[in-house]
Amino acid sequence: MLTHDYTYTNLLDRSVKNAWTVEDCYQGRDFDFAKSFLPERIAGVRGITCLNDDERRKLNQIRGNSYCHIFAFVEEYIVPMVLANASRDIYGDETRLWSLLRFAEEEVKHQEMLRRAVEQFEKGFGSPCALIPGREAVAEVVLGKSALTALLLTSLIEWFTQLHYVEHVRDSEELDALFRDILRFHWIDESRHARLDSLLIDEVAADLTLEERERAVDELLELGGALDGLLAQQVELDIDALALSARRSFSDAEKSEIRAEQQRAYRWTFLVSGLEHPEFVQIVRELTEAGQGKIAAAAQALSA
Ligand SMILES: [Fe+2]
Ligand SMILES: [Fe+2]
Repeated sequence: MLTHDYTYTNLLDRSVKNAWTVEDCYQGRDFDFAKSFLPERIAGVRGITCLNDDERRKLNQIRGNSYCHIFAFVEEYIVPMVLANASRDIYGDETRLWSLLRFAEEEVKHQEMLRRAVEQFEKGFGSPCALIPGREAVAEVVLGKSALTALLLTSLIEWFTQLHYVEHVRDSEELDALFRDILRFHWIDESRHARLDSLLIDEVAADLTLEERERAVDELLELGGALDGLLAQQVELDIDALALSARRSFSDAEKSEIRAEQQRAYRWTFLVSGLEHPEFVQIVRELTEAGQGKIAAAAQALSA
């Protein structure tokens, strides 16, 4: 159903050849808090006029921490989702099975890498930064949707992960080296996972009617709305963390300036950069008749 030339054989081969461990990424290093962690396209701190440079860098770092947390958070459901897809044909194609088991294992490794980033951040940053709770509840909500909906959400996430690294981090040498490596190692695996998602979407969508496929896009956008609510909660926690770290309090006008800039940056990072990703747009276009228009309208509304 989807246009691509991906195969389980090829993707398994690349997974084995490019295997890495969490230790390969960290190599005993700590974060350098004199540097920014995220590129401006993701952090969105430069335009906040009520902050000085030092405070903008702190907010950038707070955003780096929440970036790792939110990835670990939204990826929580991917392991059970991939295992459920693997089990559908457990005695069938062994290359498919092995490829999907490695996909699940790599996601467990990402959770470990991202959790460690949050732990090291907490130790080094100097003041507490709260993070949104409820990762298991979110996983339950996603897995309560159709199999195609969960796969579309995964595909969206895995395409934007790559875009963040390749277009905004890879050449940004001014950023903290360890943080860049975390995103680099994540990208190495996600560039394969996004292709595995397309193979799984083909399998699942083959048994669905057009109506069911259209419904999956509607459900995806419902999940996007729920994620947007979580991001708004994280923005408030970030403002509190910044006030604590910078030892100042913000007036209502200052808070609303930070909130507006940050909401835009979070929405671009976790929603719009995926909804507008050309590979993702093509998947939705090939699966549905109305989906492309709906995701474009959602991306536009979130960018306003
Ligand atoms: Fe991942
Ligand atoms: Fe992944």
